Amino acid sequence: MRLDVFTLFPRWFDWFTTQRHVENVVAAGSELRFIDYRETTPLGAGQVDDSPYGGGAGMVMRVDVVDAALRATYGNQPGDRRILLLTPSGRMFDEELATELAAEPELTLLCGRYEGVDERVRDHLATDAVSIGRYVLAGGELAAMVVADAVLRKLPGALGHADSVHEESFSAALGGHPEYPHYTRPASYRGWDVPAVLLSGDHDLVRRWRLERSRERGRREGEGS
Ligand code: ADE
Repeated sequence: MRLDVFTLFPRWFDWFTTQRHVENVVAAGSELRFIDYRETTPLGAGQVDDSPYGGGAGMVMRVDVVDAALRATYGNQPGDRRILLLTPSGRMFDEELATELAAEPELTLLCGRYEGVDERVRDHLATDAVSIGRYVLAGGELAAMVVADAVLRKLPGALGHADSVHEESFSAALGGHPEYPHYTRPASYRGWDVPAVLLSGDHDLVRRWRLERSRERGRREGEGS
């Protein structure tokens, strides 16, 4: 995958890129780029925002600044790559969208800052508007990291163990339910015992027990609704 993140704060991603699963996908051939809007702004003195038409508090990121950054990177034709604008008012990010995005060969994430981004970015430059939750962050960077993390960990070679992506929370293998509980040694700790079925050695029984716990969790947590 070629993943490009447009941001005013590329250094925020320094930590992200040193995480093991991210390093693994890069070693396996994926390419990550962090592109600073200020590098290509057509305005003087690194300006990227302006006061809102109609008045109001705060500053708004300009559409010409975002467009210039995209054109400098992709030319006049961004092709059919998905371009996601991170915004609190977008489509809610979930495991289904992460899986969909992980299948894309090329992906672009646009981080906004300040009070918002000129609506024409959403209308004309982005293909999707995505939110990671109904709360407002200071900018799209953390949201972009959340999206990138959930997507990249699905790529081949990201995690040590291939099965860990296959049978995890919300996967098709678990019928879209949350994951079943995990236990490891010690079998008994302060009187808290590991369920006996997991120590039984009966793989079929273990499998059925896990599926049932997964379904039960889904019901208890209202399947996230
Ligand atoms: N930018 C600011 N808050 C956000 C959120 N909740 N999701 C996505 N992008 C954001």
